[in-house]
Amino acid sequence: MNHSRRSFLKQSGLAVAAAGVPYSLTAQSPVAPSDQVQVALIGCRNQGFSNLKDHLRQPGVVCGGLCDVDQQILEERAAEVERLTGTRPPLYGDYRKLLENKDIDAVIIGTPDHWHALMLVDACAAGKAVYVEKPLANSIAECDLMVKAARYYKRVVQVGQQQRSGLHWQAVVDYVQSGLLGGIRRVQVWANFNYGKGGERVPATSPPAHLDFDRWLGPAPAQPYHATRVHGSWRHQWDFGGGLMTDWGVHLLDIVLWAMQVEGAPRSVRASGGIYAYPDRAIETPDTLDVQYDMGGWTLSWEQLGGVQRGIYGRNYGIAFIGANGTLVVNRSGWEVIPQAEDGRYLIPALPPQRGQESNHERHAINFLAAIRDQKDPICTVEMGREAAFYAHLGNIAQRTDSVLRWDATKGQFLQNKAANALLKPDYRAPWRWPSFG
Ligand SMILES: NC(=O)c1ccc[n+]([C@@H]2O[C@H](COP(=O)([O-])OP(=O)(O)OC[C@H]3O[C@@H](n4cnc5c(N)ncnc54)[C@H](O)[C@@H]3O)[C@@H](O)[C@H]2O)c1
Repeated sequence: MNHSRRSFLKQSGLAVAAAGVPYSLTAQSPVAPSDQVQVALIGCRNQGFSNLKDHLRQPGVVCGGLCDVDQQILEERAAEVERLTGTRPPLYGDYRKLLENKDIDAVIIGTPDHWHALMLVDACAAGKAVYVEKPLANSIAECDLMVKAARYYKRVVQVGQQQRSGLHWQAVVDYVQSGLLGGIRRVQVWANFNYGKGGERVPATSPPAHLDFDRWLGPAPAQPYHATRVHGSWRHQWDFGGGLMTDWGVHLLDIVLWAMQVEGAPRSVRASGGIYAYPDRAIETPDTLDVQYDMGGWTLSWEQLGGVQRGIYGRNYGIAFIGANGTLVVNRSGWEVIPQAEDGRYLIPALPPQRGQESNHERHAINFLAAIRDQKDPICTVEMGREAAFYAHLGNIAQRTDSVLRWDATKGQFLQNKAANALLKPDYRAPWRWPSFG
């Protein structure tokens, strides 16, 4: 981004919005082309496009390009951008070509998880700021690589854990850190979602003509095409995602790590679970999973039930911080504090349900744009993305290897556990190679 673009952003409403003051979603006054910020999108079907729209609503932001390996999706999204902005963006089937476009300042990575690492490293090398969707990557080694790349190339990287930008999540973190709950001995996280049972099992077929399936697979192992394992439902296959654990897990675990000021790995991780309810569906990731993290002085638990839409505290997903004086329960719809009673009195005042906000995603986009302007870290750094993804991957690896995991931070691997260490890093399929830099 040139100097004048940066100075435009400085004068615009972004600085105010990033500071937490309410912002307007309405159209702003016209901005000179030299002052615009060009944001491009890689992976256009669902979340990435939603992120792009949040960016395009901000003053001075234009769509610098769209990239997808599905021509049909690309055309549909191009038409939508044209309808929203009046301009048809440049279209790409290969993200490396998009990265060669020097006019593009920032890219959003909205592809399935197995692509995030390669794309982020290449985008950083090409000089772009990056908004990468969560989980940061589909393996621990890729997460570590991405942290290194972002810092080596000194790029602004925002991870799509948008709850970090949510006001009620920030209020919850403040409350937990105030000490009012008393000693917190257990944090319970649960996620019960219907979609966790996966798609119907269907036979392998040829991919549709509009989808470049080989490029969709990219560095993942070669395999036949199954319609219910790609768009929107890839996350239940290990080659592409980590099931509910790395989907909702990173969002919710991120809040726990933040509120509890966790640094580093848990003392140990154990898990139980499997595909107990839906053996006939197109899933490899467990539909049922319980994980216990020993945090040294308190315990962290994760419970998931794919196919179920109900859960404890009347919520199908959430976090409960359980302290000596009371329990704070939170999810996206809001939060409350349920006090502990002793001798007929509450130990702390009850806090009735507080509503959550809708605009976390847009606030997160605004925060990213402000970080580009100031060339500083955004609210969800690549390290924060790494930590949340790390904890989520630990849960999956403990279940997959049926073992108690202990992490050796010096070596960056599990203590005496060959099977678990084998799951740290994927083997990239040629011609894709593990990136090297520095
Ligand atoms: N932050 C959130 O709340 C949130 C919500 C949903 C999804 N996500 C994350 O967003 C990402 C995308 O999820 P989704 O639900 O949008 O997936 P999706 O399957 O609906 O869309 C992914 C898109 O990426 C495209 N793609 C795949 N390989 C590509 C390549 N090599 N080059 C260009 N495009 C490619 C696909 O064709 C598809 O259009 C995931 O990492 C997911 O975890 C985040």
